[in-house]
Amino acid sequence: MSGRQVLSATDLKRYYEVGGGLFSRTATVKAVDGASFTLTAGKTLAVVGESGCGKSTLARMVTLIERPTSGSLVLNGVDVTAAKGETQRKLRQSVQIVFQDPYGSLNPRQKVGTILEEPLSINRKRSAAERRAAAEAMMARVGLRPEHYERYPHMFSGGQRQRIAIARALMLNPDVVVLDEPVSALDVSIQAQVLNLLADLQQEFDLAYLFISHDLSVVRHIADEVIVMYLGHPVEQGPRDAIFANPQHPYTQALLSATPKADPTRRRLRIKLTGELPSPLNPPSGCTFNPRCPYANERCRVEPPAMLPSQGSRVACHAVEEGRMPRESAA
Ligand SMILES: Nc1ncnc2c1ncn2[C@@H]1O[C@H](COP(=O)(O)OP(=O)(O)OP(=O)(O)O)[C@@H](O)[C@H]1O
Ligand SMILES: [Mg+2]
Repeated sequence: MSGRQVLSATDLKRYYEVGGGLFSRTATVKAVDGASFTLTAGKTLAVVGESGCGKSTLARMVTLIERPTSGSLVLNGVDVTAAKGETQRKLRQSVQIVFQDPYGSLNPRQKVGTILEEPLSINRKRSAAERRAAAEAMMARVGLRPEHYERYPHMFSGGQRQRIAIARALMLNPDVVVLDEPVSALDVSIQAQVLNLLADLQQEFDLAYLFISHDLSVVRHIADEVIVMYLGHPVEQGPRDAIFANPQHPYTQALLSATPKADPTRRRLRIKLTGELPSPLNPPSGCTFNPRCPYANERCRVEPPAMLPSQGSRVACHAVEEGRMPRESAA
């Protein structure tokens, strides 16, 4: 049933202890430092942000590859963080992931048929004939030909390999599919084909997507909701149209300034990102964006901003909260 909430995450955090070698003290990387969101059947939540902002860490928590340091993750009404044994095994099957690299994520020694049937062999009681039928049906669904069943991954192009990875992810009828930069490694002409396939599959199987991307033109195309992350923190989240038409956080504005505009008649505030992305090992105090922010003041340098509702979205920014942001000018 569309519109069903399948996953909810509340204040998810994942910290890593690093270092601690002979000459270094241990330090804590706050890879994800408090993310809250829900995933809905048939809808796409996109996560955007620069390299290292915590997108893949979030993906690993949602796919139960890694446990959160704290926070809650509820999948189909079950608290994942406490789940064990059979319950955990079942939950794992309902969240699948497709990775960026279509070359590294498929076993080169397995034929396509074996790759697709493996999830069924491990998790379902099916005869060999049933497994084969299911694999062939899924191959047809993702645009692979019957003769591909006997072929090895190296015989395919990047786009076709990504179709194989998508087919594999769907073999166990998941509710949630995490797509971690699924088209970033593909040629632009192929990207659109794979994105269209993903959209069709979402409709057909009523899938909730968590779509990770650093490419805003892709996100604008596929997202229903968007989370913008900066150094482990969500800084703005809301409906796609609100984020793109009315970006409120200075970091969101800067990201959008750097991408070609969909509507050239609207003039945006031009914000250039200046300065280096700070080290996540030693993040700035207060709002982590403050050293790069044109609107930062003393409060921004000491007090981390909370995520607050603002004009249909949620924004973590003192300047937005205080109404200190200059208004966007119409052309
Ligand atoms: N296992 C780990 N141990 C220590 N630090 C880690 C680990 N995994 C991730 N990190 C750190 O956490 C931060 C977030 O990493 P993550 O891979 O989630 O970012 P990302 O947004 O996916 O980046 P990219 O766009 O490059 O894929 C980075 O600073 C990274 O170095
Ligand atoms: Mg990543």
